[in-house]
Amino acid sequence: MPRRPMMAANWKMNKTVREAQDYTAALLPRAADAEEVDVVVFAPFTCLHEVARMAGDSAVVAGAQNFYYEDSGAYTGEISAPMLLDVGVGAVIVGHSERREIFGEDDEMVARKTKRAVEADLLPVVCVGETKEERDAGGMWEKVSGQVRRVIDELEDAGGESVVFAYEPIWAIGTGDTATPEDAQDAIGKIRDLLRETRGDDFAESVRILYGGSVKPENAAEIMAQKDIDGALVGGASLEVESFVELIEAAQNAVAPPE
Ligand code: PGA
Repeated sequence: MPRRPMMAANWKMNKTVREAQDYTAALLPRAADAEEVDVVVFAPFTCLHEVARMAGDSAVVAGAQNFYYEDSGAYTGEISAPMLLDVGVGAVIVGHSERREIFGEDDEMVARKTKRAVEADLLPVVCVGETKEERDAGGMWEKVSGQVRRVIDELEDAGGESVVFAYEPIWAIGTGDTATPEDAQDAIGKIRDLLRETRGDDFAESVRILYGGSVKPENAAEIMAQKDIDGALVGGASLEVESFVELIEAAQNAVAPPE
């Protein structure tokens, strides 16, 4: 089975419920046209119920940007997997670099969250990536492989369809400074090789690996054309529905070129 491409919007800390409604209403018919693409909207918690309700059984999945791995209890300010499932959420970002850098999430926390998401049937999109300093010092792979290994070690029995990775070099996030398609392919190809070494061919071939970091309509086709890149996690260029739709179309065209 070829891997289905995924195009994911990460709204970060943006949009009111009203704005989310307008966006989702415009997105739904356009996403339905892209039959080969899984579309996920990672909305803020306050908008999730509404995005999930509007998306219903459509091809659009509502996703959360974070959660906590305990199910309930004295964890002021946190949201659990059952709470997300309760409002119709189907996916969650785990270990975004902004959570790691600003909120101090470490590899241990990321691994535990990923495991809990898989158990709860919430699709985790696990972010990994290096800083500019690490890349300049030749340490890209040491950093990224360590992050991926920690997650894989935790997921003993999970199948390849139950987790998605996103390679997001930190220096490319929100900077307009994209990795070249070749650099992105190089890192993502290495991640797939690592999955193959540790978990075998079937797992490695079925796990989707996205690229993230200043993806926009102008560079999406080139990125999507890379052999191991299965889609993108998009911040800035996902905030306007028209530009996100162009990205979805680029993903669709990469697997089913228009005749
Ligand atoms: P960007 O963000 O597309 O604005 O670079 C990507 C991300 O943080 O997931």
